[in-house]
Parts: sequence; C-alpha cells; structure tokens
Amino acid sequence: MIEGYSRRKVLLLGGLGFIGSNLAQRLVQLGAQVTLVDNFLPDHGANWFNLDGFRDQVQVHLSDLRNSEALRALLPEQEIIFNIAAQTSHSDSMSNPLLDLDINCKGNLTLLEACRQVNPAARIVFVGTRAFYGSPPFLPATEDSPILPRDIYSINRFAAEQYHLIYHLHYGLPVTSLRVGNIYGPRAQMKHPKYNVLNFFLRLALENRPLKIYGDGQQVRDYLHVGDACEAMLLAGLHPAALGKVWNVGAGEGLPFIELAQTIIELAGSGHLEQTDWPPGSRNYDVGDFVLDIAQIRSQLGWAPRLSIRQGLAQTLAFYQKNHNHYW
Ligand SMILES: NC(=O)c1ccc[n+]([C@@H]2O[C@H](COP(=O)([O-])OP(=O)(O)OC[C@H]3O[C@@H](n4cnc5c(N)ncnc54)[C@H](O)[C@@H]3O)[C@@H](O)[C@H]2O)c1
Repeated sequence: MIEGYSRRKVLLLGGLGFIGSNLAQRLVQLGAQVTLVDNFLPDHGANWFNLDGFRDQVQVHLSDLRNSEALRALLPEQEIIFNIAAQTSHSDSMSNPLLDLDINCKGNLTLLEACRQVNPAARIVFVGTRAFYGSPPFLPATEDSPILPRDIYSINRFAAEQYHLIYHLHYGLPVTSLRVGNIYGPRAQMKHPKYNVLNFFLRLALENRPLKIYGDGQQVRDYLHVGDACEAMLLAGLHPAALGKVWNVGAGEGLPFIELAQTIIELAGSGHLEQTDWPPGSRNYDVGDFVLDIAQIRSQLGWAPRLSIRQGLAQTLAFYQKNHNHYW
C-alpha cells in the first residue's frame, strides 16, 4: 500500500488514455483528488469507459497540453503532475512528423513553461519510453545505454524528457523521468495495431483470429502489466530519491515474441499462430531483442514487478472478455 496520496491534488495529462486511466483509478483508491486532462487525440487511447466505476470521483478537463492558458488555470492548485499525454504512434510520427513535433515537443515545453511560471513546486513525473535506446548494443539496456532513436516519435519524446531535466537543472522543477517498456493491460486502445501490438494480440486471440508473427518470432521483449507500471509512477511521484532522476521501468526479463503469442492463445482458449516473412520496409521498425535493466529503480525505490506474465495476461483477457464492446 502506497501512503502519501490521500487528499493530495494530482493532475494527470493524458488521463483518459490507457496508462493515464489506470493510474487515475489507483489514485482514487488511494484517496487523491484527481484531475484529468485529455484532448481525445484521434486514434489514441482516450475512452470514457476507461473511467467506468470512478467517473464521479475525478474532475475531467477536455483540453490540450499545448493550451498554455488552460494549463495555467489548472496548475496552481496541483501538487503532483503525471505527464502521460503523447502522440504515441511510431508509424504516425513518420507519416506526420510535424504533428508529433507539435505535441511531443511543443506540448511538453508549454507545460514546463506554465509550471515554471505558476507552480514551480509541483512534482512532475514524465513518462518516457524504452524506444530512446532503439536497438541497444548490449542487454539489458541500462539508463546509461546509448540513445539510438529509430523514429521521429522516439527523438521527440527524448527531447521532451530532456526539456524536463533542463527545467530541473535551471529552475529546480522537481522532475522525474521514467522510461517505460512494453505495457499491457486493461483500458488500452484496441481498434488498430499502430502502437501496442501486445494488446492488439489479445483482441485477435479473443476474436479467434490469426496472431501474425513475422520471421521466427524469437526476438525477446520485456512486457510489464500496467498495474505494475502505475505502482512505479506512484512511488516516483512521492519519493525524494526520485528527484532529477531517469529510471527504467520494465519487467527486467525477456520473453520470446512467439512464446508470448502462444501463451495468449493458450489462456484465451482461441486464436492461432500464423508465421510469415517480414513485409517490405517493416524491419526498419523492429529493434530485435530488448530487455530493460531495472536495477536502479529497484534499489532506489524498492519497486519491482509483482505480476507474472501469465497472471497479467489472464487478468487482462478477463477484462476484455467482459468489456470488449467498449474497445472494438
Ligand atoms: N503503452 C505502452 O506500451 C507505452 C510504452 C512506452 C511508453 N509509453 C508512453 O506512455 C504514455 C501513454 O501511453 P498510452 O499507451 O497510455 O497511450 P494512450 O493513447 O492510451 O494515451 C495517451 C493519451 O494522451 C492523450 N493526448 C495526446 N495528445 C494530447 C494533448 N496534446 N493534450 C492532451 N492529451 C493528449 C490522448 O488523447 C490519450 O488519451 C505515452 O507517453 C507513451 O509514449 C507507453
């Protein structure tokens, strides 16, 4: 049980999306006074059903990270800010790089400027991504691994993280960045596979459709349940040791993609594997094997994943079995 959120004023940017709404539910359980901001970016995870069961316990503002005036009105009261809003599609960042730049760079600078001007004391937890490391030269990838982005999204999100750290360095904003791995769980967008393939695989299995694997499927990835990711964010939002830090948040161990697909099919009791060659050009997006080193956050905050992949997948499948009509 995390203590310290009761009656605290907490702002979640991107709060109607996948990670944001899971975090919001947890914060409500912990007694926080929660405000959500979201602009319902098309093709992203914002979904009113994500607030099912706690809609009347949070305040919602349909607004944009790039709207300085709206932020300046909301910020003064807030004690802790979780900055989770983003353009999250790697492929869309290549087809529409200026939109990605606008949200992932300008939006984050707008937020930081507003914080500096009206509430420089608010804690900020920025949610970054493992994609900063691209295809790492050694595994597991540590926080000191080289930054090797492979698309516009990863470059712009890394710039956004660095803006946060610069505002910490120059203006003392109390900032933490968490570079999260592949997250799965309830409340994710499942309409298209442009980002978060694992969640989309759950839909395919539940619909008894083929789970398509390119190549031999032996590439190893690390998959973390959203509940475990939220616990890491909650700890980072309170702990003094997290100030000015950048930490990886992942499972810390790898699973071959094909084994993941087989486990989903087994647990769902439906779906089947289909192995094909890589479509032309798509290999450029694949980073090969990937596992995050989570020793830093483990030793500094005592955080570690709790759910095994089988437990997490079973819980997630049960959620979508019941609620799929709200997600696809
Ligand atoms: N899901 C993962 O596996 C994963 C992995 C690594 C990093 N991340 C990061 O976590 C964050 C959240 O991802 P998610 O999976 O919950 O995606 P999501 O699409 O479910 O949530 C993002 C939310 O941000 C909102 N949003 C986008 N632009 C906005 C803006 N300008 N103003 C206000 N709201 C805006 C969207 O409407 C959406 O509700 C992103 O920063 C993403 O890069 C996610």
